[in-house]
Amino acid sequence: MSELLRVENLKKYFKTPKGLLHAVDDVSFSIEKGETLGVVGESGCGKSTLGRCIIHLLEPTDGKVFFEGENITNISGARLKESRKDMQMIFQDPFSSINPRMTVKSIIEEPMVIHKIHNGDKAKQGKAVLEIMETVGLAERLADSYPHELDGGRRQRIGIARALALEPKFIVCDEPVSALDVSIQAQILNLMQDLQEQRGLTYIFITHDLSVVKHISDNICVMYLGTLVEKCTSDKLFEKQFHPYTQALLSAIPIAKANIKRERILLKGEITSPINPAPGCRFAPRCLYAKTECFNRQPELKELEPGHFVACHLY
Ligand SMILES: Nc1ncnc2c1ncn2[C@@H]1O[C@H](COP(=O)(O)OP(=O)(O)OP(=O)(O)O)[C@@H](O)[C@H]1O
Ligand SMILES: [Mg+2]
Repeated sequence: MSELLRVENLKKYFKTPKGLLHAVDDVSFSIEKGETLGVVGESGCGKSTLGRCIIHLLEPTDGKVFFEGENITNISGARLKESRKDMQMIFQDPFSSINPRMTVKSIIEEPMVIHKIHNGDKAKQGKAVLEIMETVGLAERLADSYPHELDGGRRQRIGIARALALEPKFIVCDEPVSALDVSIQAQILNLMQDLQEQRGLTYIFITHDLSVVKHISDNICVMYLGTLVEKCTSDKLFEKQFHPYTQALLSAIPIAKANIKRERILLKGEITSPINPAPGCRFAPRCLYAKTECFNRQPELKELEPGHFVACHLY
């Protein structure tokens, strides 16, 4: 395997009337080709901002992004447009970013038109759209339907089809199943895994729900208020969690086997504000084990076991 994407010390701060909001604060990781990296954490911890910075929907405040070895942090113009062919995004609600007055066919076709994929050959383009629809499990008869005429599962299939239209190598999937019923969630996750196998796709899979990423992710990054608190393989993370925040997240997932008892760890207090954050560990105000040091100095990510990284002063 070889590295597809690397993120180095990425930061994204937003200026707000109350001060500087640290949405993403010094996050680093890399992803191998064909791999899925799960990114989990509570609402507002910076997952979407991280994904958007990586694919240039937002400009990072600091840090670097490398794609296939090339530093793409500051690309613009024609090179940026070119990079859209490689990197795409699937949204929780694809229709916040899509014109509701467009038909299914025209939604999927639009990226091909913008990027002149078929050099204006309408017949070729129409055929390509139908092929993608078939790939994602959308019946041909739906080509002239409008998004609002379809159910949530089919709508998300359009979002996936649109992301695939340019045959990207890498897709940021931002809560792609969170808005769907549980039964439909499994269908969409299966589809995404099949597509990954067939096309060798690499994913970042963003979710607030650890149980969703368990099966789909090779590696997992746990985020808390803009920072990375734990990262390792998915298998390891479900076996052993070091960070008290990860422990709390895991404890909220019901276990299938009835003979295992797990104490649910309830997090006390509200998530603190990411605006002008206090020094120290971001999780300290809610941590059951916090000591003085935790409020004074931000912990660095340390490799506690081979491949298992944790940012916590307890270790
Ligand atoms: N354009 C913006 N201007 C100011 N603040 C922003 C902007 N976009 C995001 N934020 C703030 O940045 C922080 C991270 O937001 P983000 O949407 O990345 O979180 P998230 O983990 O994706 O949350 P969710 O699970 O709710 O989608 C939040 O505090 C949010 O309010
Ligand atoms: Mg989000």
